[in-house]
Amino acid sequence: MTQSKGPIRTAVFPVAGMGTRFLPATKANPKEMLPVVDKPLIQYAAEEAVAAGISTLVFVTGRNKRSIPDHFDKAYELEHELEQRGKQQLLEQVRNIVPPDVTCVYVRQSDALGLGHAVACAHPIVRNEPFAVILADDLIEEASGGATRQMVEQYAEHGCSVLGVEEVPENRTHQYGIIDPVQTGPRSWDVKGIVEKPDPADAPSNVAVVGRYILTPAIFDMLATQKPGAGGEIQLTDAIARLLERERVTAFNFEGRRFDCGSKMGYLEATVEFALNHPELADDFAAYLRTRSAR
Ligand code: UTP
Repeated sequence: MTQSKGPIRTAVFPVAGMGTRFLPATKANPKEMLPVVDKPLIQYAAEEAVAAGISTLVFVTGRNKRSIPDHFDKAYELEHELEQRGKQQLLEQVRNIVPPDVTCVYVRQSDALGLGHAVACAHPIVRNEPFAVILADDLIEEASGGATRQMVEQYAEHGCSVLGVEEVPENRTHQYGIIDPVQTGPRSWDVKGIVEKPDPADAPSNVAVVGRYILTPAIFDMLATQKPGAGGEIQLTDAIARLLERERVTAFNFEGRRFDCGSKMGYLEATVEFALNHPELADDFAAYLRTRSAR
């Protein structure tokens, strides 16, 4: 059944996970505040949402919640100090973390019961509208207006939920939600089934869900009754599997390289690539890498 094709106005950022793969860095700070070069992961994600025309950012925070609202709030003392010192460029950067017409809302997930539970915590804000979910630890290089913008365009075309996907090596299926796909275009599929973290032998394909979703509000009905699944967590994947019984769900392989910044290796790769593209650092950093690899 075709759903409403209204605009996507809200993005949900679940930032309440434990970040165990990145301890001890994540002991007192959410992993979404880890910086890649000079911006925290959550800022890249917020900018990607704003580039997609989204105007309400809902952060689902947990323990160690303070640094994210602090990052997006106005910093009066810092701004005053930078102004006094005539640091205009830095002042602009600090002031324009999000544009003035964008609203940030913070919701608490008091217990880290899983990604599905975190998304359900945003229901009172999102209400009965389609919305985006952005996992900031999947950092995606900007291409064709950004991953979320491409997903929003897919939603506008099909009017049903869209899962961001990419093909992964077959021996990695146990790290992802894996779809049972029917290919409908060079970068798009219809989803016939979905399973969380299957062993390679049981995986329906190697097409894996990564940290971008456009979901219809029917997902909240599923999440409200969702039982814990893999790892004892309330899994978004399991709720999507039930959504499939009610609605069409599609998958889309957006353009732009993805870095899994929840893992140390992915984070290091992102740091190198973003530094090599950074206007102030690119030349010096490339020269350093050449010297280093010659050693
Ligand atoms: P992950 O599966 O990466 O889990 O969560 P994690 O706890 O953050 O990290 P590891 O695996 O222990 O290292 C995927 C996304 O869902 C959020 C996380 O913040 C991350 O953005 N999440 C997860 C929540 O907000 N709440 C939860 O209860 C679980």
